[in-house]
Amino acid sequence: MLVRNVLIVALFVTASEAGIFHDVLAEKVQRHKDIKELQRQLNLVLEEYDELFDVRTTEVQGLTGNVNLLRQLRNAVHAAARPDELLPSMSPNFAKLETLADSHPVLATLSRRTYLAVVILKWMLLGQKSLDDGWEQELAAIASKFYRLHVHSAVRKGMLEYLHISKSGGTSFSAAAKHSNCSMAPGIGQVEELGDFPRWINGTAFEEITGGTDVMWSYYSTKGRPIEGQTCTRRRAYLKKFGFNYVSNEFTLHGGSSVRNTHVCPQMFNVVTLREPFSRLASHLHYMLARVKKRLLGKKGLDEGKFFDIFCAGDVTVWERLAPTVIDNYNVRSFIGERGFHLPVGDIGREDVETARRLLLQFDLVLDLDGGSETVDLVIQQGLGWNLSMFEFHIRSSDSALSKLNYSKEDCPNHELLQTLRTRQNPDRVLYSTGRTLALLDGIFLGVARALGLRPGELAAKEAAAGISVPGDEPGCGLIRPDTPYTSSSSSGRSTLG
Ligand SMILES: *[C@@H]1O[C@H](CO)[C@@H](O)[C@H](O)[C@H]1NC(C)=O
Ligand SMILES: *[C@@H]1O[C@H](CO)[C@@H](O)[C@H](O)[C@H]1NC(C)=O
Ligand SMILES: *[C@@H]1O[C@H](CO)[C@@H](O)[C@H](O)[C@H]1NC(C)=O
Ligand SMILES: *[C@@H]1O[C@H](CO)[C@@H](O)[C@H](O)[C@H]1NC(C)=O
Repeated sequence: MLVRNVLIVALFVTASEAGIFHDVLAEKVQRHKDIKELQRQLNLVLEEYDELFDVRTTEVQGLTGNVNLLRQLRNAVHAAARPDELLPSMSPNFAKLETLADSHPVLATLSRRTYLAVVILKWMLLGQKSLDDGWEQELAAIASKFYRLHVHSAVRKGMLEYLHISKSGGTSFSAAAKHSNCSMAPGIGQVEELGDFPRWINGTAFEEITGGTDVMWSYYSTKGRPIEGQTCTRRRAYLKKFGFNYVSNEFTLHGGSSVRNTHVCPQMFNVVTLREPFSRLASHLHYMLARVKKRLLGKKGLDEGKFFDIFCAGDVTVWERLAPTVIDNYNVRSFIGERGFHLPVGDIGREDVETARRLLLQFDLVLDLDGGSETVDLVIQQGLGWNLSMFEFHIRSSDSALSKLNYSKEDCPNHELLQTLRTRQNPDRVLYSTGRTLALLDGIFLGVARALGLRPGELAAKEAAAGISVPGDEPGCGLIRPDTPYTSSSSSGRSTLG
């Protein structure tokens, strides 16, 4: 019911704005050097969404029962030969989408990316030519509607869950959230009671290898989550109890005792930052080396030579025992749930990539850290309503963090080891290619929204005024307003779900 206010906000695009859609499209697409791969990925995204649209289980956030609408939307999108032909068929479906998006916000995200992927593919087929004014206005109008749905969904969910894939900008992201007055657990917003801490190192193996030293992050062997973290409802209730509207999860997505039940939490606003997998891996390896060196040298009995012999000699089996997940497709593992995360080295295969991709496709926003600071900041500012540049928060630039630990990559370059590992990260690379494509699609709709002058803060305030409870002038967190009761329409504040 709350969706009515999305419809109430009148929409108009003046003639002076003609050209916006094309300009944004051209600017974003030209950053993708490999056009063939982009086309391949856009088609893959469409295929995957097709399948998600067809799914009859609860796999996709309870889509059951709405399959018909989704089919209609999809067919409308596919039937059109040119971008402008999409429009007459989109409009009637859009109204239906708006009424459903409230109970199934993921529908809006899926439809938005499907629609944009088709538009881009057709625009490419037509030689990336400028669009005439009529199309421009219609396309911009639809992008703008999708933007309003996005704001609506963020305000309504009122709680952001960030999937922190280690060494992918997570510390900066959480610092940006904190600066934007998101309410979170101390540090970087991780809650140990929810089981969201990273599982890097097998402590037993570390002790064996080093002759008896223990180390931080040795949670590897802890496979599941404590009870509070086991269902989305419990997680949300636990966070609410502390008044948090931001949480950072550095383990893996939820569930996953079998692949089928791994899921994102539909009542959270889900965001992930991705990074080129090999840079991520190299950065992670050196970060661990710096920590391990400090730890070992701080202990009696191990000198620098010993550290060097064990950890800098490029012995891949040491790392396979010590940090099996970190060095073997850690991105894919971060999506596929608790069982999949712990699969043995070398066992991440095609099916796991597909599972990971399906889950990634359900995120509200996907950021590509290697996509350039402008694009990242566009998502931060327009997609989250945080008025800042994420790169101001690059507080733990890896080199300064390493030198603080008196470690330099040159001390322990491990070139050959890294080369060996590089050849094994194909699943991660495939997933990242899809991730970049999703980041492009998100950048386009947000770029158009910005160019049209749609202001996240103002729109969010209107949502609030139109019926979604936001008490007083409490400091917000951009679009993630405090105390938005997801499961209740009462306006009674902090303890609604407590
Ligand atoms: C965060 O809250 C503080 C204290 O209430 C306020 O001064 C500051 O302007 C807020 N910052 C943002 C970005 O809202
Ligand atoms: C951790 O390492 C120990 C010792 O090498 C090994 O026995 C154990 O199976 C490993 N744990 C897991 C969960 O792989
Ligand atoms: C964003 O921040 C800048 C200064 O950092 C300020 O001038 C501007 O008014 C802010 N915009 C909004 C919408 O708060
Ligand atoms: C840093 O490391 C160098 C050589 O690796 C060593 O000589 C120096 O004492 C260390 N400094 C500190 C403060 O630990």
